[in-house]
Amino acid sequence: MISVETVANSAYIVAALLFILALGGLAEHRTAKMGNTFGISGMAVALGATIALAIGRDIEPLGLLLLAGATALGAAIGLWRARIVEMTGMPELIALLHSFVGLAAVLVGWNGYLHVERHPGGADAELLRAEGLLGIHGAEVAIGVFIGAVTFTGSIVAFLKLSARMNSAPLMLPGKNILNVGSLVLFAVLTVWFVVDPRLWTLVAITVVALLLGWHLVVSIGGGDMPVVVSMLNSYSGWAAAASGFLLGNDLLIITGALVGSSGAYLSYIMCKAMNRSFLSVIAGGFGITAGPAGDTDLGEHREVTADAVAELLTGANSVIITPGYGMAVAQAQHGVAELTRKLRERGVTVRFGVHPVAGRLPGHMNVLLAEAKVPYDIVLEMDEINDDFTGTDVVLVIGANDTVNPAAAEDPASPIAGMPVLTVWEAGNVIVFKRSMASGYAGVQNPLFFRENSAMLFGDAKDRVEDIVKAL
Ligand code: TAP
Repeated sequence: MISVETVANSAYIVAALLFILALGGLAEHRTAKMGNTFGISGMAVALGATIALAIGRDIEPLGLLLLAGATALGAAIGLWRARIVEMTGMPELIALLHSFVGLAAVLVGWNGYLHVERHPGGADAELLRAEGLLGIHGAEVAIGVFIGAVTFTGSIVAFLKLSARMNSAPLMLPGKNILNVGSLVLFAVLTVWFVVDPRLWTLVAITVVALLLGWHLVVSIGGGDMPVVVSMLNSYSGWAAAASGFLLGNDLLIITGALVGSSGAYLSYIMCKAMNRSFLSVIAGGFGITAGPAGDTDLGEHREVTADAVAELLTGANSVIITPGYGMAVAQAQHGVAELTRKLRERGVTVRFGVHPVAGRLPGHMNVLLAEAKVPYDIVLEMDEINDDFTGTDVVLVIGANDTVNPAAAEDPASPIAGMPVLTVWEAGNVIVFKRSMASGYAGVQNPLFFRENSAMLFGDAKDRVEDIVKAL
């Protein structure tokens, strides 16, 4: 008879393949929905197999009850959060979910310790000793707890920063790099110690060092680097899951963890390139980045404009580029923007969009909103594709974008966002900036664009102002 073990392992292979197909599907707009379906199916298969495995191994009634309760509770929380989350709140939800993965890895590690190292005469420990794997188990416990705890506190800080419950400015402790490197060295020493002599205090020390390191790594990263932090924590959570997989002897967890870990690391690398940041510097918690000035320099006077005047300006224009940002998402102005685009194109105006790779609050944020509002794909261009065209453009509409169009990044070496590639909107004939006030953007940096001679501010909610322009047209 085929054992439940064999069936579960076969199901795990099917689930792993479905996860790989999910990643492939999610790489493109057109196939993203299918990718999600593959991911959901893979998770359902994995969950079913895991529950079947537990039942097949004669789980005690209390264990079964806990398993059913945890599954139901997790599913209910997941469904509830996913239904109510706003697109703009997605990154913080993702950060919170990463913290759960980290916490789970810490608990799995501690559970491993309590079963094996804490009971050196127990059956589990005897089995591992006979196979000569006791030391390996100790290392797995230490590494799993460490990665999990770093992911846990790091993700909590990222969640607090992204949801504006905590200041997004980087905390610059004296000797921060020494603190980071010192923690890693301490972890290595404690791990060797734990493997040789697995004591409770060593594991407590490893957990505390890792919790503090996770907190410090993310708290010292400034707002501008936050997108990379989210994908970096995504990667950490993958490695934490893989570490748990080794401890539990679960191949699927190892495969899934490695997929998440490596794809998160690759995404972080791509985003670092887009923001001209060194991967190592961000991963190491803003290594070598010093806090920039608070932005209280006097940049002169700004000019205000009305929606009617903008409508008139647009009527006389041949070419228009729209650069959307986080504010368009907050205002949910994408449908109005799509309507404005349609009206202008009907009048023969060339309209294109310039999308910065980190505009908004998560990768692809603007593309998703514009696609939802049915803006044709072929007029939505990436920063690199459009940056040379601002010079010959009559009007640029900056809709709720700020950091991604900040000339200080290109011109002021002392700026905290210096070196980050930006959309060079100021090279156009006229720049209209849609926002509600003169407040700074996510990175907390003043924007000299607002004070340029060819710039004018259109204050108010972006959705209302865009609709005013559509009416005036
Ligand atoms: P931001 O620099 O954050 O600027 C958004 C602007 O929108 C703000 O200046 C705000 O000004 C305005 N705004 C907000 N609500 C508005 C509304 N209802 N109507 C009109 N304007 C509104 O956005 P960005 O240019 O898209 O840059 C993105 C920033 O977020 C970067 O610093 C990036 O590093 C960071 N970030 C990105 C990601 C990813 S992966 N994309 C993830 C996390 C963080 P007012 O308050 O004056 O209206």
